Amino acid sequence: MMAARLPVDLFDDGPRDVPLGPGAVLLGGFALPLGEALLAAVADVAARAPFRHMVTPGGWRMSVAMTNCGAAGWVTDRSGYRYDPRDPETGRPWPALPRAFADLAARAAAAAGFPSFAADACLVNRYAPGNRLSLHQDRNERDFAHPIVSVSLGLPATFLWGGERRADRPRRVPLRHGDVVVWGGASRLAFHGVDTLRAGTDARTGDVRYNLTLRRAL
Ligand code: SIN
Ligand code: FE2
Repeated sequence: MMAARLPVDLFDDGPRDVPLGPGAVLLGGFALPLGEALLAAVADVAARAPFRHMVTPGGWRMSVAMTNCGAAGWVTDRSGYRYDPRDPETGRPWPALPRAFADLAARAAAAAGFPSFAADACLVNRYAPGNRLSLHQDRNERDFAHPIVSVSLGLPATFLWGGERRADRPRRVPLRHGDVVVWGGASRLAFHGVDTLRAGTDARTGDVRYNLTLRRAL
Protein backbone atom coordinates (compact mmCIF):
# COMPACT_ATOMS: atom_id res chain seq x y z
CA MET A 1 0.00 0.00 0.00
CA MET A 2 1.30 3.45 -0.84
CA ALA A 3 1.95 5.83 2.02
CA ALA A 4 -0.02 9.05 1.85
CA ARG A 5 2.25 11.84 0.78
CA LEU A 6 2.11 15.31 2.15
CA PRO A 7 1.97 17.99 -0.50
CA VAL A 8 5.43 19.52 -0.60
CA ASP A 9 4.10 23.04 -0.27
CA LEU A 10 2.06 22.35 2.84
CA PHE A 11 4.22 24.65 4.98
CA ASP A 12 4.95 27.35 2.43
CA ASP A 13 2.73 29.86 4.16
CA GLY A 14 3.56 28.69 7.65
CA PRO A 15 5.68 30.48 10.18
CA ARG A 16 9.21 31.16 9.13
CA ASP A 17 11.66 32.89 11.37
CA VAL A 18 14.70 34.36 9.69
CA PRO A 19 17.64 35.57 11.77
CA LEU A 20 18.91 38.87 10.37
CA GLY A 21 21.78 39.57 12.74
CA PRO A 22 22.59 39.80 16.46
CA GLY A 23 19.34 40.91 18.13
CA ALA A 24 17.47 41.04 14.82
CA VAL A 25 14.92 38.56 13.50
CA LEU A 26 12.02 38.30 11.10
CA LEU A 27 9.11 36.55 12.83
CA GLY A 28 7.22 35.24 9.84
CA GLY A 29 3.45 35.54 10.17
CA PHE A 30 3.65 36.49 13.85
CA ALA A 31 0.84 39.07 13.54
CA LEU A 32 -1.36 37.05 11.18
CA PRO A 33 -4.06 36.17 13.75
CA LEU A 34 -4.42 39.88 14.56
CA GLY A 35 -4.45 41.23 11.02
CA GLU A 36 -8.07 42.36 10.92
CA ALA A 37 -7.94 43.96 14.38
CA LEU A 38 -4.74 45.81 13.52
CA LEU A 39 -6.21 47.16 10.28
CA ALA A 40 -9.35 48.29 12.07
CA ALA A 41 -7.17 50.13 14.58
CA VAL A 42 -5.19 51.76 11.75
CA ALA A 43 -8.44 53.05 10.25
CA ASP A 44 -9.43 54.39 13.66
CA VAL A 45 -6.13 56.19 14.14
CA ALA A 46 -6.24 57.63 10.60
CA ALA A 47 -9.77 58.96 11.15
CA ARG A 48 -8.45 61.12 13.97
CA ALA A 49 -4.90 61.81 12.74
CA PRO A 50 -5.05 61.62 8.93
CA PHE A 51 -2.21 60.26 6.81
CA ARG A 52 -0.03 63.02 5.42
CA HIS A 53 3.14 63.44 3.40
CA MET A 54 5.78 65.01 5.59
CA VAL A 55 8.71 67.07 4.39
CA THR A 56 12.33 66.18 5.15
CA PRO A 57 14.70 68.75 6.67
CA GLY A 58 16.20 69.03 3.18
CA GLY A 59 12.81 70.04 1.74
CA TRP A 60 11.77 66.78 0.04
CA ARG A 61 8.18 65.58 0.29
CA MET A 62 8.15 61.97 1.49
CA SER A 63 6.36 59.57 -0.88
CA VAL A 64 5.28 57.34 2.02
CA ALA A 65 2.22 58.73 3.84
CA MET A 66 2.49 58.71 7.64
CA THR A 67 0.55 59.17 10.84
CA ASN A 68 1.16 58.26 14.48
CA CYS A 69 -0.42 57.12 17.69
CA GLY A 70 0.84 56.93 21.23
CA ALA A 71 2.44 59.37 23.67
CA ALA A 72 4.53 60.97 20.94
CA GLY A 73 4.65 60.83 17.16
CA TRP A 74 7.63 60.83 14.83
CA VAL A 75 7.53 63.90 12.62
CA THR A 76 9.78 65.61 10.15
CA ASP A 77 9.64 69.12 8.74
CA ARG A 78 12.08 71.81 7.63
CA SER A 79 13.36 72.16 11.20
CA GLY A 80 14.38 68.49 11.56
CA TYR A 81 13.23 65.10 12.85
CA ARG A 82 11.66 64.77 16.29
CA TYR A 83 9.05 63.11 18.46
CA ASP A 84 6.15 65.44 19.10
CA PRO A 85 3.45 64.82 21.73
CA ARG A 86 0.98 66.62 19.44
CA ASP A 87 -0.02 66.23 15.84
CA PRO A 88 1.30 69.40 14.16
CA GLU A 89 -1.61 69.23 11.67
CA THR A 90 -4.33 69.44 14.30
CA GLY A 91 -2.53 70.68 17.42
CA ARG A 92 -4.11 67.80 19.34
CA PRO A 93 -2.40 64.89 21.07
CA TRP A 94 -1.98 61.82 18.84
CA PRO A 95 -4.61 59.07 19.24
CA ALA A 96 -3.80 56.68 22.09
CA LEU A 97 -1.74 53.60 21.32
CA PRO A 98 -4.30 50.84 20.64
CA ARG A 99 -4.09 47.98 23.11
CA ALA A 100 -3.68 45.50 20.25
CA PHE A 101 -0.54 47.36 19.09
CA ALA A 102 1.06 47.44 22.53
CA ASP A 103 0.28 43.79 23.26
CA LEU A 104 1.62 42.61 19.92
CA ALA A 105 4.80 44.67 20.34
CA ALA A 106 5.47 43.20 23.77
CA ARG A 107 4.89 39.64 22.60
CA ALA A 108 7.00 40.00 19.46
CA ALA A 109 9.85 41.65 21.33
CA ALA A 110 9.79 38.86 23.92
CA ALA A 111 9.86 36.24 21.17
CA ALA A 112 12.94 37.98 19.77
CA GLY A 113 14.73 38.02 23.13
CA PHE A 114 13.65 41.38 24.55
CA PRO A 115 11.38 40.36 27.43
CA SER A 116 10.36 43.71 28.93
CA PHE A 117 9.55 45.93 25.97
CA ALA A 118 6.73 48.42 26.44
CA ALA A 119 6.09 50.55 23.35
CA ASP A 120 4.85 54.10 23.86
CA ALA A 121 4.74 55.26 20.24
CA CYS A 122 3.76 53.91 16.85
CA LEU A 123 4.57 55.38 13.46
CA VAL A 124 2.10 54.18 10.84
CA ASN A 125 3.42 54.18 7.27
CA ARG A 126 1.25 53.80 4.18
CA TYR A 127 2.98 52.79 0.95
CA ALA A 128 1.35 53.11 -2.46
CA PRO A 129 2.86 51.42 -5.51
CA GLY A 130 6.06 53.23 -6.52
CA ASN A 131 6.75 54.46 -2.97
CA ARG A 132 10.01 53.57 -1.26
CA LEU A 133 11.83 54.39 1.94
CA SER A 134 15.53 54.98 1.55
CA LEU A 135 18.13 53.51 3.90
CA HIS A 136 18.10 55.13 7.31
CA GLN A 137 18.64 54.45 11.00
CA ASP A 138 15.92 54.82 13.64
CA ARG A 139 17.75 57.15 15.99
CA ASN A 140 15.36 59.79 17.29
CA GLU A 141 14.37 57.66 20.29
CA ARG A 142 15.73 58.51 23.71
CA ASP A 143 17.19 55.12 24.69
CA PHE A 144 18.61 52.67 22.15
CA ALA A 145 18.42 49.86 24.74
CA HIS A 146 14.84 49.32 23.54
CA PRO A 147 14.25 47.35 20.35
CA ILE A 148 12.16 48.33 17.31
CA VAL A 149 9.12 46.21 16.40
CA SER A 150 7.96 46.54 12.80
CA VAL A 151 4.70 45.00 11.53
CA SER A 152 3.79 44.51 7.86
CA LEU A 153 0.15 44.62 6.66
CA GLY A 154 -1.28 44.34 3.16
CA LEU A 155 0.76 44.26 -0.02
CA PRO A 156 4.13 42.48 0.12
CA ALA A 157 7.35 44.46 0.07
CA THR A 158 11.09 43.99 0.05
CA PHE A 159 12.80 45.06 3.25
CA LEU A 160 16.35 46.29 2.81
CA TRP A 161 18.40 45.15 5.76
CA GLY A 162 21.75 46.90 5.82
CA GLY A 163 24.60 47.08 8.26
CA GLU A 164 26.19 49.58 10.60
CA ARG A 165 27.25 51.80 7.72
CA ARG A 166 25.03 53.32 5.07
CA ALA A 167 27.39 51.97 2.40
CA ASP A 168 26.95 48.34 3.56
CA ARG A 169 25.13 46.46 0.83
CA PRO A 170 21.66 45.62 2.15
CA ARG A 171 20.17 42.14 2.20
CA ARG A 172 16.79 41.86 0.46
CA VAL A 173 14.17 40.34 2.77
CA PRO A 174 10.62 39.64 1.51
CA LEU A 175 7.93 40.93 3.89
CA ARG A 176 4.36 39.72 3.73
CA HIS A 177 1.12 40.56 5.51
CA GLY A 178 1.49 39.57 9.17
CA ASP A 179 5.28 39.50 9.26
CA VAL A 180 7.02 41.17 12.18
CA VAL A 181 10.65 42.28 12.23
CA VAL A 182 12.32 43.01 15.57
CA TRP A 183 15.74 44.62 15.86
CA GLY A 184 17.61 45.68 18.97
CA GLY A 185 20.82 45.09 20.87
CA ALA A 186 23.84 45.11 18.57
CA SER A 187 21.55 45.65 15.55
CA ARG A 188 19.56 48.54 17.01
CA LEU A 189 21.17 51.15 14.74
CA ALA A 190 21.34 49.03 11.60
CA PHE A 191 20.51 50.83 8.38
CA HIS A 192 17.25 49.65 6.82
CA GLY A 193 14.70 50.70 4.22
CA VAL A 194 11.97 49.49 1.90
CA ASP A 195 12.42 48.95 -1.83
CA THR A 196 9.97 50.46 -4.32
CA LEU A 197 6.54 48.94 -3.70
CA ARG A 198 5.20 46.94 -6.62
CA ALA A 199 1.61 47.38 -7.71
CA GLY A 200 -0.80 44.69 -6.57
CA THR A 201 -4.09 44.04 -4.88
CA ASP A 202 -4.45 42.73 -1.37
CA ALA A 203 -7.82 41.38 -0.26
CA ARG A 204 -7.51 43.24 3.06
CA THR A 205 -5.88 46.56 2.17
CA GLY A 206 -6.52 47.01 -1.55
CA ASP A 207 -3.60 48.60 -3.34
CA VAL A 208 -1.49 49.67 -0.35
CA ARG A 209 0.89 48.35 2.27
CA TYR A 210 0.87 49.53 5.88
CA ASN A 211 3.73 49.27 8.31
CA LEU A 212 3.50 49.79 12.05
CA THR A 213 6.78 50.77 13.69
CA LEU A 214 6.41 50.34 17.43
CA ARG A 215 8.98 52.03 19.60
CA ARG A 216 9.84 53.21 23.04
CA ALA A 217 10.41 56.82 22.05
CA LEU A 218 10.39 58.70 25.37
C1 SIN B 1 10.59 52.08 8.67
O1 SIN B 1 11.76 51.78 8.67
O2 SIN B 1 10.20 53.12 9.24
C2 SIN B 1 9.53 51.25 7.97
C3 SIN B 1 9.93 49.87 7.62
C4 SIN B 1 8.85 49.16 6.83
O3 SIN B 1 7.98 49.81 6.25
O4 SIN B 1 8.88 47.92 6.77
FE1 FE2 C 1 12.97 52.84 10.18
